[in-house]
Amino acid sequence: MKNIAIVCSGGDVSGMNAALKRFVEYSIAKGLTPYFVQNGYEGLIDNNIIKAKYSDVAGIISKGGTKIQTSRSKRFLEKHYRIQAIKNLKSHNISYLIVLGGDGSFKGMQKLSNECNNISFSGIPATIDNDIAGTQYCLGVDTALNVIKYAIDAIRDTASSFERAFVVETMGRECGYLALVSAITSGAEMCLIPEIPYQLDHHKASFKKQINKGRNYFIAVVSEALDKSEEVSKWFEEELGVESRITVLGHIQRGGNTSVHDRLMAFKFVTHAIDGLLDGKECSVICYSDCRFKHKKIEDVAFKKYYIDPDLLDLV
Ligand code: F6P
Repeated sequence: MKNIAIVCSGGDVSGMNAALKRFVEYSIAKGLTPYFVQNGYEGLIDNNIIKAKYSDVAGIISKGGTKIQTSRSKRFLEKHYRIQAIKNLKSHNISYLIVLGGDGSFKGMQKLSNECNNISFSGIPATIDNDIAGTQYCLGVDTALNVIKYAIDAIRDTASSFERAFVVETMGRECGYLALVSAITSGAEMCLIPEIPYQLDHHKASFKKQINKGRNYFIAVVSEALDKSEEVSKWFEEELGVESRITVLGHIQRGGNTSVHDRLMAFKFVTHAIDGLLDGKECSVICYSDCRFKHKKIEDVAFKKYYIDPDLLDLV
C-alpha cells in the first residue's frame, strides 16, 4: 500500500474541509493510506504528519477553514528547511503529496519536486482571490462571493434607509475578481478594480443626474488591491455631498458554510488529483477551464500572470 498526504498552504478557503473529506475517502477507496500534514508547509518542516482516518473527516463538509490548519511559511523559502521537509515525508514513506493553495504554494511545491526523487506532487488551486493563471476557477471563490453577496444585500437595506453612499471593500491582494463579480451581481453603482483604469470624476455628472432624479443611495465596490476606499468615500462626501461610510469585509470573506458549488468542486479537484498521481503524473496542477479539468505543468500556472476574462470585464 502506498502512502499519500495532503497539505493546505497559504490563505484558507471554504471548501478545504470538503476536499479533506474526499481525500480520505477516495484515497482509501483507491488502496492508498492517507496522511494529513498539519499547519501547512510549517508542518512539513516540523514533521507534523499524521495518519488520517474516516472519523477525522466526519461532519466537516459544511465548515469553512481547514481542519488540518494552514500557514504562510517563510522558512520554506530556504532550501535546508525544504530538505528537512523531504526527509520527513520519506520517514512516513509518502509517495504522493497534494497541495491546496495559491501560486506561492505551487512555487514551493515545484522546488520540493525538483529537490527530491520518488515523491509525486499535485496542486489544487485554492484561493478566494481567483488569481491563478491557467485555471478559471479556484476552490473557495463561490463561497466568498456568496458571503459578499449577503453582505452587500444587507448593506443595501441600511444604505437605502438613509441618504448615504457605502464603499464596500472586498479582498483580493492583487486581483479585482471578487470585487468585479460582486459589483455586477449585486447591482452596485460603482466598481473599482486594478484591471480597469478609472477616474472618479467621470462618474460625477451621471451620479448627480441620478440624485436629481431621486436616487438616495450609492453602493461602490472597491477592491482591496487599490487601497482607495478612504479616497472614494471622501469623494462621495466632497464632490457629491453624499454622506458616506466604508465597510471593509475583510476575513469574513474567507470563512462560512461551504457553498454547494465549492463542495462539488472540492470533490472533483481531489478526485482528479489522486487519479493523476496514480496515472504517473509527477508534478502538475489541476486546472478547471471551459468546464473541463486538466493537469497543467507548474510553469504554466505558478509563473504566469492571471488575467480576468475580458467578457466579464465588459459587463461593468
Ligand atoms: O488568501 C488570499 C487573501 O485572503 C487575500 O485576499 C488577502 O489580501 C490576503 O489573503 C490576506 O492575508 P492574511 O490572512 O495573511 O492577512
